[in-house]
Amino acid sequence: MAFKVGLLGLGTVGSGTADILLHPAQRHPLLQEIEIYRVGVRSLDKPRAVNLPPHLLTTDLESIVTDPNIDLVVEVMGGLEPARSLMLKAIAHGKHVVTANKAAIARFGDEIFTAANEAGVYVLLEAAVAGGIPVIEPLKQSLCANRIESVTGIVNGTTNYILSRMQAEGSSFDAVLEDAQALGYAEADPTADVDGLDAADKIAILASLAFGGRIKLAEVHCEGIRQVSATDIAYAEKLGFVIKLLATAKRDMVLGSGNYSQDSAKLAQLQVRVHPTLVPKAHPLANVNGVFNAILIEGDPVGQVMFYGPGAGSGPTASAVVSDILNIAAILKVGRGAVVQDGKPLLDPLLACSHQDYCSIAPISDLVTRFYARVLTHDNPGVIGRLGTCFGNHNVSLESVVQIGLEGDRAEIVVITHHVREGNFREALEEIRSFDSVTVPSVLRVI
Ligand code: NAP
Ligand code: HSE
Repeated sequence: MAFKVGLLGLGTVGSGTADILLHPAQRHPLLQEIEIYRVGVRSLDKPRAVNLPPHLLTTDLESIVTDPNIDLVVEVMGGLEPARSLMLKAIAHGKHVVTANKAAIARFGDEIFTAANEAGVYVLLEAAVAGGIPVIEPLKQSLCANRIESVTGIVNGTTNYILSRMQAEGSSFDAVLEDAQALGYAEADPTADVDGLDAADKIAILASLAFGGRIKLAEVHCEGIRQVSATDIAYAEKLGFVIKLLATAKRDMVLGSGNYSQDSAKLAQLQVRVHPTLVPKAHPLANVNGVFNAILIEGDPVGQVMFYGPGAGSGPTASAVVSDILNIAAILKVGRGAVVQDGKPLLDPLLACSHQDYCSIAPISDLVTRFYARVLTHDNPGVIGRLGTCFGNHNVSLESVVQIGLEGDRAEIVVITHHVREGNFREALEEIRSFDSVTVPSVLRVI
């Protein structure tokens, strides 16, 4: 008996998904049992990248999520609404859901997973983070024996492409963005990507899985790459770093004594943040360039594991969507979808998302990290001493201070700190900014 799928969306990801389902040869044999039953789109007249019988297409997406013949709904339409309502309606009608929609899951995951757990259906989302790279299922299953310590990723291809080209060519952010838009690598409205919002959605999802609690998206600290200048990239290069937009979820350094018990691990605060970061050239993430993504996971006892590959695109993202479809089809095939215990549906705990509590996220002012700051000032005797004294007064210890160049008539001083509390560093910076003829054009964190 065929397993019937309703697709919501037949754009980039939907077409890639349909293409795999229509061409099962030499892939997993279970694919032959999967049937595309209906496809929801906005326009019936649009030319499509895949050949599907026209009678499968409809603009009535409600009819798909309520159709009793459909076993599983694949939401690849994107956006918040009506995607959220359609997923909830599919769940209410007893359908499993596969989605690539990080924006909807990062905002409404709580509501969607609660509904799914009550209805006894799965909501799988491998494609929502880092496209074709398997990272959701490894976190849920292959790494589940580990106590996860950190998840650090380059999870946005557009910004990685822009930063990689700025690095290689010495070009400005604006020039590379314009070119990336002309080449189709960046959206006409690049806000979600360049302001870090897309990466924030993705790290919220990864943090939730890694640390077993829900994440409030508003608590994820988020900075984009608009302020990263060619000058900073050049200084970073001289100092042995590259600049990457990193998304990080980590147990808080202050509370994480390294001596975890089950309880203290649960109580520890998390840092969940997205910002441009100076990454040492020898770091595993430093050589991830162009549109590629990578996620470095540190767990106890596994150590470091890195996942690398294409974070977007029709084929890679569809690869993740179809793996989720197959996971659900496999469960249903062996009858595990119908188990009920004490009147409640029982889901596979390694596939379902059952956590209910919210993780406690530390404010960014409590972050302990290294900083890079570029300071412009008149080249007078005692200037570096004054900066050093001010940092020292705020308990900010400096690792290096270099004066390499001049910008106009002012000296350019680059400071790298030791690990310091962000709140202290910001206080020092505020005082320095009040000094006569001193400006601080850039501040970046250093991994
Ligand atoms: P897309 O190319 O814009 O396709 C969206 C599809 O959904 C289109 O077929 C569109 O219909 C349909 N659609 C949208 N709103 C609709 C509505 N209100 N009613 C009916 N149909 C509607 O988008 P995409 O790039 O495939 O992205 C889909 C999802 O995957 C998003 O959540 C995105 O974040 C996620 N994702 C994408 C990538 C990627 O590489 N593109 C990677 C990872 C995750 P028409 O074709 O008729 O306009
Ligand atoms: N806009 C996203 C990126 C697409 O640039 O990585 C994949 O989610």
